[in-house]
Amino acid sequence: MSLIEKIDKTKLPAHIGIIMDGNGRWAKKRGLPRSLGHSEGAKRVVEIVEASYKLGIKSLSLYAFSTENWKRPKEEVSKLMDLLVFYIRNQLSIIKKNNIKINLLGDINPLPEKVKKEIDIALSSTRDNDRMILNIGLNYGGRSEIVRATKLIYKDIEAGILNIENLNEGTFKEYLYTKGQEELDLLIRPSGELRVSNFMLYQLAYSEFWFSNVLWPDFTEEVLYEAIVDYQNRNRRFGGLNV
Ligand code: FPP
Repeated sequence: MSLIEKIDKTKLPAHIGIIMDGNGRWAKKRGLPRSLGHSEGAKRVVEIVEASYKLGIKSLSLYAFSTENWKRPKEEVSKLMDLLVFYIRNQLSIIKKNNIKINLLGDINPLPEKVKKEIDIALSSTRDNDRMILNIGLNYGGRSEIVRATKLIYKDIEAGILNIENLNEGTFKEYLYTKGQEELDLLIRPSGELRVSNFMLYQLAYSEFWFSNVLWPDFTEEVLYEAIVDYQNRNRRFGGLNV
C-alpha cells in the first residue's frame, strides 16, 4: 500500500505549517552556492502546494522569510527576493485557476518595491478564492504577530469597536494574520532542527509536531504523506482524557 493510500481523507489536518529549512546545507553538501539550495527549495514549494491542494488541506502555512533572516548576507537576501518574485509571477495563473487564496503572514513594508508589487497583485487577484489558503510567512515572526494583534486590539477598544469584556481567545485570534482560518493541526520542520524558531507561536498551542532529517530541497510529496500518516496515528486529547 502506498503512503497516499494510507491517508484517511476524513481525518486530514485542516491546517499544516512548514518551517522550510536546510536549503543551505543541501547546497553545501553538493559544493554548490547557497542560492542554488534556495532555488531547489522553491521547486519543492510548488510540489508541496500542489500535493496539499489535491489532498484537500484547507490551509497551508509556509515560512519563507523570517524577521531574523535579514541578518543574512545582502546577496542571499536579494536572491531569495528574486525567487519570490519569479515564483509568484510564474505560478499565479495556476493558483488562481485552482481557487487558492494567497494570504500573507508578516509585514511586507520593508521588502523591496518589486516584491511588494507582486505580492499586492497576488493578494488582490486571489482574495475571493476559497478552496485552500496558502499563507506565506514573509518578514514574519510569531512574537511580532502577537504584539501587532495587541496593538490592533487596543486601537479597536479605543475606537469603541471592541469592548474589553468581549476580548477572549476567540476574539484575539481574529487579530492574527490567520484570522478566520482553521487551527494549526500539524507543524512540520525538516532538516533535523528541533525548534520552533518564532513560527506561529499563538497558533501552535495544540499542534502536533513532526520533525525529520530530510533537508527541504529533498522534501518530496511522499515525505508530506509520511508526516500526515504519522499525524493520523497520534492520539490528540487537547488536555482531556481518552474516550
Ligand atoms: C531555510 O534554509 C530556508 C529559507 C530561509 C528560505 C525558504 C525559501 C524558499 C524555500 C524559497 C522561496 C519561497 C517561495 C514561497 C517560492 P536555510 O538557508 O536556513 O538552510 P540551512 O539551515 O541549511 O543553512
